[in-house]
Amino acid sequence: MKGSIVGGYLAPHPPHLVYGENPPQNEPRSQGGWEPLRWAYEKARASLEALKPDVLLVHSPHWMTQVGHHFLGVPHLSGKSVDPIFPNLFRYSFELDVDVELAEACCEEAREAGLVAKMMRNPNFRVDYGTITTLHMMRPQWDIPIVGLSANNSPYYLNTKEGLQEMDLLGKATRRAIERTGRRAVLLASNTLSHWHFHEEPELPEDMTREHPERFDGYKWDVRVIDMLRRGEVDEYFKLQPQFIEEAFAEVKSGAFTWMFAAMGYPNIPGELHGYGTVIGTGNAVMEWNLVEAGLADAPAKAAA
Ligand SMILES: [Fe+2]
Repeated sequence: MKGSIVGGYLAPHPPHLVYGENPPQNEPRSQGGWEPLRWAYEKARASLEALKPDVLLVHSPHWMTQVGHHFLGVPHLSGKSVDPIFPNLFRYSFELDVDVELAEACCEEAREAGLVAKMMRNPNFRVDYGTITTLHMMRPQWDIPIVGLSANNSPYYLNTKEGLQEMDLLGKATRRAIERTGRRAVLLASNTLSHWHFHEEPELPEDMTREHPERFDGYKWDVRVIDMLRRGEVDEYFKLQPQFIEEAFAEVKSGAFTWMFAAMGYPNIPGELHGYGTVIGTGNAVMEWNLVEAGLADAPAKAAA
């Protein structure tokens, strides 16, 4: 059976959200914090559950590979992941299963498309905090296999336009791999929007009296972009994206959002905003594009009676 992408989520990865949740896997303890974003993820988790995917694919800006696009290629990975910037907030013991067959298909398709692509086969590999935070917030049960994609960061080494053209190719390659392996897949773009941030952390990180957008122009950009996406103006958004990246220092530059939309075929359908909030001043939105509800993918098969 031909596989399909059943949904895509903008699912940002500030480690503060995991810290605020106090899951057993994370060492530091908090008094909560960033609730509007954590409640947004709660809604996203419920819709993800209803989509019944076989696999979650996540592209993270914080697994940086200088040469090419890499894919996790070890069936089971475990270890401790520490955020190098916020080791006080994120020291997380992870354990996850990788859909290696799909990862290999993605890698092959990416090479066919002319990209430099490589499988990551180190069994002791420490998965980055971006991948883990997005996956933990979307599916804390860790019971769905994943495919992890690195950020080649070509938009930084080349230029935004060329780099994002690569992400477009990578997205289309990902779609072909999903179709040919017969998977029912959900894509996760692990990106913050405006990325101006504080330079000093409040003494108590979860003291929400201290949380606010770092810059008003960044906030205004976020609102503008979210509004367009809520209206389904995806083509318009992608025309504006280079300016958004430039003026709001937006993390979508690292490519996950373009990858996800290229894979979904850039559907001009309204995205559902589950919530917006800032984390150390950066703008974060949890949004969903449900391709089943839009009539672009099949509903999950009913379980056999
Ligand atoms: Fe980030």
